[in-house]
Amino acid sequence: MGRVVYKSLPDMSKARDRVSNPSVIFDKLEFSDFIKEYGKGKKFFIKTHGCQANVRDEEIMAGYLLLCGFCRTFEPSEADIAIINTCAVREGAEDKIYGEIGTFKANKKKNPNFILGVCGCMMQQEGVAEFLTKTYQHISLIFGTHNISRLIDLIEEHIKTKKVIVEVKSCAGDIIENLPSCRLDNFKASVNISYGCNKFCTYCIVPYTRGKERSRPIQEIINECKALVESGYKEITLLGQNVNSYGKDIPDGPNFAVLLEEIAKLGIPRLRFMTSHPWDFSDDMLQVIAKYPNIMKCIHLPVQSGSDNILKKMGRRYTSEEYLALVKKIKTTIPGVALTTDIIVGFPNESEEDFLGTLKVCEAVKYDQAFTFIYSPRKGTPAAAIKDDVTAETKHERFNRLIKLVEEHVVENSNKMIGNEYTVLVDGPSKKDSEILSGYTETSKMVNFKGPAYLKGCIVNVKITENHAFSMTGELLDDPIIVKAKELKTVIDKEPCVIEYLDLKNKISNDTDLKQIRSEILKIEKDLRTANSTKEIKDRLKELNEKYASHPLIINLSFVEEKVKDLMKTIVGELQ
Ligand code: 5AD
Ligand code: SF4
Repeated sequence: MGRVVYKSLPDMSKARDRVSNPSVIFDKLEFSDFIKEYGKGKKFFIKTHGCQANVRDEEIMAGYLLLCGFCRTFEPSEADIAIINTCAVREGAEDKIYGEIGTFKANKKKNPNFILGVCGCMMQQEGVAEFLTKTYQHISLIFGTHNISRLIDLIEEHIKTKKVIVEVKSCAGDIIENLPSCRLDNFKASVNISYGCNKFCTYCIVPYTRGKERSRPIQEIINECKALVESGYKEITLLGQNVNSYGKDIPDGPNFAVLLEEIAKLGIPRLRFMTSHPWDFSDDMLQVIAKYPNIMKCIHLPVQSGSDNILKKMGRRYTSEEYLALVKKIKTTIPGVALTTDIIVGFPNESEEDFLGTLKVCEAVKYDQAFTFIYSPRKGTPAAAIKDDVTAETKHERFNRLIKLVEEHVVENSNKMIGNEYTVLVDGPSKKDSEILSGYTETSKMVNFKGPAYLKGCIVNVKITENHAFSMTGELLDDPIIVKAKELKTVIDKEPCVIEYLDLKNKISNDTDLKQIRSEILKIEKDLRTANSTKEIKDRLKELNEKYASHPLIINLSFVEEKVKDLMKTIVGELQ
């Protein structure tokens, strides 16, 4: 038997499957004693490329590894196990990954037991796994987007057999619930609401790499969001390739508007969602977004192109006129809404006229942000088979014209923010200057302003003073100590030891035995102040005090007091 075990390999024709019915499977999270012993003291590192769905997969993989006793490192050279989580949306992302795989040769040299796993969307493409195993001798595992919950079993199999294990399924995909998770942020969270995509835009690899569109059961999403609210999260982003298709695969299931409303009602301070497809953006959704102040007034609405000819070839299911009508409806229903988009330049045979159509849509919408891409052919997609007559030079020239126009609109919109006040969720000190805090407004505009680092994770009021196009400068309007004190109060009130402490205090003040002892002690103490004390009285007082101190409620109180004191020490540490 060779050094590589190909348990399964991707197959683009199977990846197109939209007939099979995915199941909902609850992971039992059972792991062998072998792997739990192996994981002790070993460090893992994960590098993620691509979109939010991949970032969420990283959090889930980290959750699995932590459950098996591995600990996390953010330093690749320290890792005993490293995982590269790949993206396949455009070619550029792939080239970077080959270079990165190479850098882990050093880990293998230092530690022959080092494990390198490569996973994610790129692995779902035919031929990639075979190429990687042939080219790089230090890869230990290759797995795909449908195999995340198999991570621990695959690692165990590799350790026991010393073989390279390749397991990439091409299928509709199941819905796995009860997934472990170690979130990268402790105040902003992403929550998957659906997986996969059924739209099959002709340029896009995602429907093949992520499978059939399948919605998570609403109650599972609610439970996940509820737990996030209870643990103090400030912002939830509901994730799906097409959030507005949510529930369409569940007979009589709730739609996205219903789900969005249910989550908004849980009381998360900021609720976002992405991505919305212009084709099935419902009026109900708009009404819910407009109704709830905690749903951020910021909609990512990829247009991809402004030419009807190209939109048709892309399989986008709308014309530029329909798109603009939707934009108009959104802007009238939600005043002040920020609109962002994705645009592809240089789709095969895009003419100058087609491109001018895209510029025209940009002029009409005046996006607050646009993610612009040069078309990249993806093997296996229908567009990749189209013979293209547009030169790379023309594509780059158009691309530059587009970003210039987008920037003009961004600047124009941002200028209107100067002098106004906005709420900002603080991400923490800015990367460039530790004295400056950085955060985002409700409309996803980045703002930098002076303030103490302990405001990280707080929502503050900021007045905008300067416009730098893609970020703004502002002034903190709140007293930081008061903001933090209010924040800490809500945290403290929810701490189990504080709840236990307050409950015990209440029980102690109402307990009849303790009440009687207290009143006798008070009476004796009062008598002692006016009359001479006798040994008998003193002994009685001592006996009462001892009885009081040895009461189970009082003993419990002293234990809980210690826990509360430890909590206070942590809080003081946070403020320093
Ligand atoms: N080439 C260029 N850009 C692409 N995108 C998706 N596929 C391609 C491709 N083949 C862009 C789209 C999508 C975003 C996530 O990536 O604009 O909305
Ligand atoms: Fe790709 Fe289109 Fe699906 Fe978006 S909607 S993931 S662009 S196929």
